[in-house]
Amino acid sequence: MKTTISLSTPAELETECLVAVVLDHADPAQKEKNKDAKPQLQVDSSDAALQSVSADLLASGEVTGKPFEINLLHKPAGLKAKRLLLLSGGPAKKFTSYDLRHAAGAAVRSLKSRGLRSFAFIAPSGIPADEAVRAIVEGAHVGNFDSDYYRSDRKDQKIDALTILTSGNTDKAALEKAASEAQIIGESQNFTRDLVNEPSNRMTPTILGERAKKMSQEVGLKCEVYGADKIKELKMGAFWSVAQGSDEPPALIVMTYEPAGAPAKPVLGLVGKGITFDTGGISIKPADGMEKMKYDMAGGATMIGAMRAIALLKPKVKVIGIVCATENMPSGKAQKPGDVQIAMSGKSIEIINTDAEGRLVLADGLYYARQLGCTHLVDAATLTGAVVVALGYANAGLFANDDAMYERFNKALDKAGEKMWRMPLDDEYKENIKSGIADIVNSGGRWGGAINAAMFLKEFAEDTPWIHLDIAGTAWMEEQKPWIAKGPSGIALRSLVEFVKSFAG
Ligand code: BES
Ligand code: MN
Ligand code: ZN
Repeated sequence: MKTTISLSTPAELETECLVAVVLDHADPAQKEKNKDAKPQLQVDSSDAALQSVSADLLASGEVTGKPFEINLLHKPAGLKAKRLLLLSGGPAKKFTSYDLRHAAGAAVRSLKSRGLRSFAFIAPSGIPADEAVRAIVEGAHVGNFDSDYYRSDRKDQKIDALTILTSGNTDKAALEKAASEAQIIGESQNFTRDLVNEPSNRMTPTILGERAKKMSQEVGLKCEVYGADKIKELKMGAFWSVAQGSDEPPALIVMTYEPAGAPAKPVLGLVGKGITFDTGGISIKPADGMEKMKYDMAGGATMIGAMRAIALLKPKVKVIGIVCATENMPSGKAQKPGDVQIAMSGKSIEIINTDAEGRLVLADGLYYARQLGCTHLVDAATLTGAVVVALGYANAGLFANDDAMYERFNKALDKAGEKMWRMPLDDEYKENIKSGIADIVNSGGRWGGAINAAMFLKEFAEDTPWIHLDIAGTAWMEEQKPWIAKGPSGIALRSLVEFVKSFAG
């Protein structure tokens, strides 16, 4: 999507469609008292012609002002635009860049399904211009993605060109920089979503490795893809214990970003779970819903997409991306409950449930990242069903062994417009992963399942500052929303990139 910043007045801009946000300025306290209180709707623009052409519609009582409500006018009088789309954003007081991202996504989805290829969006006045530009460009990219790849009747409608109108005394060059950075992030998020969307027969560990290599060549990253021999040579017994049951070879993907002039420390490690299909192994999953386990490589795909964005944005900090990719299959070669495995770190693991495989591959991934010199670690994984029980679909689970890391990541979340919720890692939970025969078990049972999984990973992060993101409930949209299609969401990528940038000064 080509993005352009324009300082033109909205009325003067020639475009297929001008999109303006409508906000409700009614006092929320009044609304509390009187449910029938009328909304006070205003187009968020000082353009007189735009105000005038919208006035009758907004006064008619036909517009509720509820978020994502859409009203489309053709040949709006006094505007050079062919159409005017009034997009409601809800109460003015609550409208933030988080909502603006969604509004931009909703505009894209609504207009592309009408066959439009380009439009112009008026940046709302209440949000700093650079922040608004970023939100609009990122949100528009999110909205532009559809997951129906393999439908013969796929329309593949896309918006190709977006103009953002900003007013006031603004620094156009700074806004253009914000737009191009946001475009890199939006495209990288959709690159991740492309990878996640592929079914397991078309996204094996080998193919995932090839995609990472190809991307790395394009953006100038170093990328190594290792196979079973290297995994065994490194003594990655936890990773291999999952991979051993599958005919499909595993892949250990290592992407390195080392910009000239970056300090020797910190070295950031981004470690992703790349289970291209999770049957559960011998502790096999029920058939119902098993098809969804093609997205069990979302954490890995997120790290590959994040490395793409980082390579293009060029922050001055070293970053290593590691993806542990394998299937989790039952077979005559598969590991069995009760087996004991020795992880790369030397810790022994009693396998209670072969379906708790994500933590096994990550255990070796995290330890390997530390061996490669990483001073700070973040992992992302569709790790547990329990995190969905705890937090539903709105927040990803966030775990941290270091408060400063958490604070830093929390700021990144805010800037990136993503929602995650910190969960505990108290020593009390360590009881749950004790084993009678080995150092730890790989499944701590049902209660606090997401925490038990994180406690397991903590054993391998040890004293390295580390954040774990459990994205099982947020990596896949179960239904479409006005701003996003059903399917892979690309969650965490934007926050990860923002987090990495925060180390570059
Ligand atoms: N990949 C699953 C977790 C998952 C569940 C991801 C739902 C996306 C949606 C993971 O490997 C798994 O099977 N976890 C088990 C752990 C249990 C056996 C301790 C779970 O959550 O049931
Ligand atoms: Mn599993
Ligand atoms: Zn899994």
